[in-house]
Amino acid sequence: MQSELKYAFVMRSLHWLVVLAVLIAVAAIEILDAFPKGSAARAALFMVHQTAGLSVLALMVLRLFARVGTQAPPPVPGSPLVQRAARLTHGVLYVLMVGMPVLGVLALAWAGKPIQPFGLDVTLALPQDKTFAHLAKEVHESGATLVYIAVGLHAAAALWHEFILKDRLLRRMI
Ligand code: HEM
Ligand code: HEM
Repeated sequence: MQSELKYAFVMRSLHWLVVLAVLIAVAAIEILDAFPKGSAARAALFMVHQTAGLSVLALMVLRLFARVGTQAPPPVPGSPLVQRAARLTHGVLYVLMVGMPVLGVLALAWAGKPIQPFGLDVTLALPQDKTFAHLAKEVHESGATLVYIAVGLHAAAALWHEFILKDRLLRRMI
């Protein structure tokens, strides 16, 4: 049966590491609002957000190489429309997982603020530009809504396959 075929080990590992890093990035930025502005907890959570977000970018770069270098299993049998929707969602997820961290970095760099992966202070040699910084932050924040929608649809589809269609699709990624 086609759905018994799995993604390569490296693809499966990177998939779940990205999921974990995204969860940490989102949890950190959502919890941050519970703390007063200027507090140490808020600063620490923002550092965690950036570290996890930059880890997503690093993992996605590895993943793009792994995607090209390994054979993905053929799509599970189904209507061409559903297969196209799945391919589109995967494409959107790739774009978001690369685009979101890049926009986050640009928002800070154009605002003249340091990037703080793992507590380091890295200042990028970009000219300060308030308009660009504001734009990058706005797009990053709107992108976050898209992340919630795309990941929600994608995870719901995976669970639909597992529990309703029972075609073992989820096992291709485990
Ligand atoms: C996949 C990676 C990332 C995701 C999913 C993500 C998601 C988010 C979310 C949900 C918000 C809150 C949006 C809101 O309040 O409406 C946010 C804000 C923000 N993120 Fe990210 N982010 C990621 C990576 C990064 C990275 C790598 C950086 C910078 C190094 C960064 C910098 C920022 C900044 C500056 C804000 C605005 C914080 C504020 O002033 O309120 N993000 N991000
Ligand atoms: C941040 C969250 C997630 C991201 C960014 C993400 C991203 C992706 C991408 C890009 C693919 C396509 C693989 C490729 O061709 O390279 C994929 C496949 C897959 N994902 Fe996710 N995913 C996430 C969360 C989840 C969750 C929560 C589940 C399970 C509930 C899941 C289950 C799957 C499965 C089963 C496949 C294989 C689909 C197939 O064989 O057609 N993913 N994921």
